[in-house]
Amino acid sequence: MRGMTIKKIMFTEEELGGIVSELADKINSDLCGAESLTVLCVLKGAVMFTADLVRRLNVPDIRIEFIRASSYGKSDVSSGEVSVGDATGDIRGRDVLVVEDIIDTGRTLNSLKERLLNMRPKSLRFCGLFDKPSRRIADFKADYVGAVIPDEFIVGYGLDYAECYRHLPYVAVIELNS
Ligand code: IMP
Ligand code: MG
Repeated sequence: MRGMTIKKIMFTEEELGGIVSELADKINSDLCGAESLTVLCVLKGAVMFTADLVRRLNVPDIRIEFIRASSYGKSDVSSGEVSVGDATGDIRGRDVLVVEDIIDTGRTLNSLKERLLNMRPKSLRFCGLFDKPSRRIADFKADYVGAVIPDEFIVGYGLDYAECYRHLPYVAVIELNS
């Protein structure tokens, strides 16, 4: 693995908390009166975000499920090939909220959407913590976006570079040293 240095902090732990709270407020008002919800966390990047988000949702019966998706492999450039695992749990007839760390080319959520619609949920919404719209290739628009960011590679709060740095409590821009 090439060396890496933190170039700058994009979002502090406190700022991330604010972003997640705002998203939860919006989702709560849209789901007002809903009895149940399946939150589908896209592994691995959305793990921290999902954990923080679900604790702020007001729906009485929330099920948390997981799905594995990856498009990057071990690089910081999307391979263009999306691999999506089998979703845990049965979403047929349920209101589903897919929680993803970042929307980049849009390929991951685009292929996931197709896959999930075949499973006949009652409703399907997508929430991305971060969005890099300038990089979009597939036509995909999330229902909820925490923060729109420029085309920079970020790590922390679940996001990785070659499986590292997911544990950082903040989100940082990295610089790769060759
Ligand atoms: P997409 O299919 O190109 O939209 O890819 C989305 C996936 O790429 C995300 O779930 C992340 O795993 C990964 N990704 C995209 N941008 C970044 C980044 O800046 N840092 C870390 N992972 C990223
Ligand atoms: Mg991911």
